[in-house]
Amino acid sequence: MVDIKSALADNARAVNDFLDGLLPMTSDPEARVIEAMRYAAMSGGKRIRPFLVTAGAALFDVTPSYALRVAAAVELVHCYSLVHDDLPAMDDDELRRGLPTVHVKFGEATAILAGDALLTLAFEVLAQPATHSDPRVRSDLVVELARAAGAEGMVGGQMLDLLAEHHRLSEQEVTRLQRLKTGALIGFACISGAILGKASDSARAALHAYAHDLGLAFQIVDDLLDVEGDPSEVGKNTGKDEAAGKATFVTLLGPERARHQSAMLAEQAIRHLDMFSDDADPLRGLARFVVNRRN
Ligand code: IPE
Ligand code: IPE
Ligand code: MG
Ligand code: MG
Ligand code: MG
Repeated sequence: MVDIKSALADNARAVNDFLDGLLPMTSDPEARVIEAMRYAAMSGGKRIRPFLVTAGAALFDVTPSYALRVAAAVELVHCYSLVHDDLPAMDDDELRRGLPTVHVKFGEATAILAGDALLTLAFEVLAQPATHSDPRVRSDLVVELARAAGAEGMVGGQMLDLLAEHHRLSEQEVTRLQRLKTGALIGFACISGAILGKASDSARAALHAYAHDLGLAFQIVDDLLDVEGDPSEVGKNTGKDEAAGKATFVTLLGPERARHQSAMLAEQAIRHLDMFSDDADPLRGLARFVVNRRN
């Protein structure tokens, strides 16, 4: 049995150390944006996406320093997305990871810039030779992350999320929205190890299928926590989705059926890992963690 909490914590420590080195404070006048980036990237978080990268890469004996760089790059994109998601023009949130959001702490303009710079830094990290000796692998990673983060992925999902406020969506429409908004980046995290390890198409497809179900389960639980969670535990204000009129699985199905759906999806995700040995136990453990989490 994998102790998923301590495995997550170990991996988070490695990611934090890497980010700490990547974002050195300087005395330059523009250092304020770096301070805001450090605040956004290094103030906690579950570090689930970096864990997916590392756990996926371990299946293919990828050099750990390669996996760590990709893990950090995904987390940088995730942190940028949170900074922008919290802005007044978007979800207008004041609490994130138990702390004031970046725009509350540093002002809106600095938060926008910090988000921009976190996003571009992620691609700088991926493109550097230290990420893989084969430039084609690095280029593949760049293309896949760009696709997952952009208008065909996360940004597209965020657009749908905003457009859907105060509109009734069908289950199919909510599924698509969530798969783009949250699923796409989780999808990249899950397949990046296979890219780094030049894994077979079937291995990559299995991880993709795992991510497909996991991503949806993950967002359903996020929506449930917005309804049922305790702000001091989840580290963000709750009840925001309903107040904003967001279309979620919870509004669609009610909390009980939404919870059932997320558990079913997690078990389905785990079944996609059948081709892997117990080396995939961290990924199996993570799927169960995601649906049982309280933050
Ligand atoms: C929250 O993601 C935003 C969503 C995509 C739902 P996480 O729940 O992974 O947030 P952190 O990184 O742990 O703070
Ligand atoms: C955000 O979804 C997804 C992103 C791409 C950042 P939410 O708006 O539900 O995330 P929280 O609840 O603010 O963390
Ligand atoms: Mg949002
Ligand atoms: Mg939000
Ligand atoms: Mg949410």
